[in-house]
Amino acid sequence: MNKADPILTFEAVHKRYGSVMALDGVNLSIRRGEVVCLIGPSGSGKSTLLRCANALDVLDSGRIVFEGNEVRSSEATVRHVRRRMGMVFQNFELFPHLTVLRNVTIGPTTVLGMRRAAAEGRAMALLSKVGLSEKAAVYPSALSGGQQQRVAIARALAMEPALMLFDEPTSALDPETIGEVLSVMKVLADEGMTMLVVTHEMDFARRVADHVAVFDKGRVIEEGSPKEVFENAMVPRTRDFLSHLGWHGETTIPTAASTREVS
Ligand SMILES: Nc1ncnc2c1ncn2[C@@H]1O[C@H](COP(=O)(O)OP(=O)(O)OP(=O)(O)O)[C@@H](O)[C@H]1O
Ligand SMILES: [Mg+2]
Repeated sequence: MNKADPILTFEAVHKRYGSVMALDGVNLSIRRGEVVCLIGPSGSGKSTLLRCANALDVLDSGRIVFEGNEVRSSEATVRHVRRRMGMVFQNFELFPHLTVLRNVTIGPTTVLGMRRAAAEGRAMALLSKVGLSEKAAVYPSALSGGQQQRVAIARALAMEPALMLFDEPTSALDPETIGEVLSVMKVLADEGMTMLVVTHEMDFARRVADHVAVFDKGRVIEEGSPKEVFENAMVPRTRDFLSHLGWHGETTIPTAASTREVS
């Protein structure tokens, strides 16, 4: 398959919860190697979109196509999606009763059938990549939020996913640990990982995204390059949203280094 082919496509996706139209006709494509950031107000449907992509929730109408296969609620799809899509949640969702190392090896050993020694080798390399090799033997409760989230990223990467989904990965973190998680995500992006990232970190979206989609009321109201969206939004609702977040075209999110200085 060509690198420019979409890996994940949403076509006229609708999803309703009771009277709430959570997704109201979403069309969006993510190409291989691309970082797409989804931004938009609370309740606009961003998490619902990721959950539908990941087969955690079922559409009412429309289509989601991942690696050429329509995502349905069949066992085969769920297996395919779980193997090929990594998901990182706001609240880490690590297994509390397993060590950091086991959290990272459990997917490869149980789902991929990898030998434990090989899985541990891969896990140690990934823990080193996220800067946590010395924490392999501890339990998640002994880690800061930022460290737990980095373990969650290593755990997802251990499955060698074709696509990583992130749902506000830093919004439950103390400000001083946000930067370390964003740095790991930037490294992944620079290495060519395909990523769909829901985030309120506008500086990250501006610097790292190839493409930004703005959500409002279950729809993509605007999309384009970071420059187009952040510097030249065409839709008034996008400009309102950005200015509500305090975005005036300059860096608003402290870097890891500057946060350390103030704390
Ligand atoms: N399981 C559910 N049952 C009922 N309503 C739901 C459910 N999940 C989401 N909704 C509703 O669907 C809409 C979209 O929710 P969603 O969580 O996707 O928004 P979001 O953009 O991720 O918001 P946030 O930025 O606060 O995380 C909201 O009105 C929400 O209340
Ligand atoms: Mg959400």
